[in-house]
Amino acid sequence: MLLHTIKEVREQIHKWRKDELTVGLVPTMGALHAGHMSLIKKAKETCDRVVVSDFVNPIQFGPSEDFDKYPRTLDEDVKLCEKEGVDIVFAPSANEMYGEGQKLSNDNLTYVCPPFFYVNTLCGKSRTGHFDGVCTVVLKLFNIVQPDFAFFGQKDAQQVIIIKKMVRDLNVPITIVQCPIVREESGLALSSRNQYLTENGRQDALVLSKILHNIKSCYKRGITEVNALKETAYNFLTNKHDLEYLEIVDKNTLEDKIKADNESIALIACRVEGVRLIDNIYLGEE
Ligand code: PAF
Repeated sequence: MLLHTIKEVREQIHKWRKDELTVGLVPTMGALHAGHMSLIKKAKETCDRVVVSDFVNPIQFGPSEDFDKYPRTLDEDVKLCEKEGVDIVFAPSANEMYGEGQKLSNDNLTYVCPPFFYVNTLCGKSRTGHFDGVCTVVLKLFNIVQPDFAFFGQKDAQQVIIIKKMVRDLNVPITIVQCPIVREESGLALSSRNQYLTENGRQDALVLSKILHNIKSCYKRGITEVNALKETAYNFLTNKHDLEYLEIVDKNTLEDKIKADNESIALIACRVEGVRLIDNIYLGEE
């Protein structure tokens, strides 16, 4: 069922709680693809009832980012969710989430602000305020739905690490479940932003997964110096690629490493045809 208001969601959840049913939440910004569907499948396996939120959250986009053009495909999303047996699709308006006519800035709204290091490294370097916006909306969704489990994709590895930290630090009684990246056969990690790419752009975008898989195979062959591993990327990059970062860090804390080990994750952000794409890979076992 498609619901637009917090009140309707709360009423439904209340009924489920009375019946002692477990609830899973899959937070999304819509434009659902097979990556989201894998989260929904996992939620269906884990919980009695599943809520998918479908909300393009204005406060996690910077002023020069793609909030206005971000794909909005609610009708298709609802059909996909129905097919998968989702119990509620929660698609609120910005007014419903943040209050009628609220000025969406941190001099007016209570924000969740994770520690500086977590939100200002990697993607946070170029996306000031992004993770504060993500944590704020995610905590609001947690408070509205009060799920037992919430499901996030490893594709946004930094996001999951930060959300786990928020949940720990604020004693939020929800288990965070991280699900593996879903890739096309070509290796391209699924993302709602892939639809901005032309056919040539999609080919050029394969460089992200190629660089990461090559780093992992170099690591498996015994190269552990992070600088040496990072340098292997230059064999793949061309003038079609605008590399924003390539880092190898601790997979739980995001701290830099000099030597890679089985606890390391390699992460990349790169623009192709002006579209900002991210990807990552664990160097140890998944
Ligand atoms: O990963 C996303 O799609 C968003 O950042 C999330 C978690 C739904 C919050 O808006």
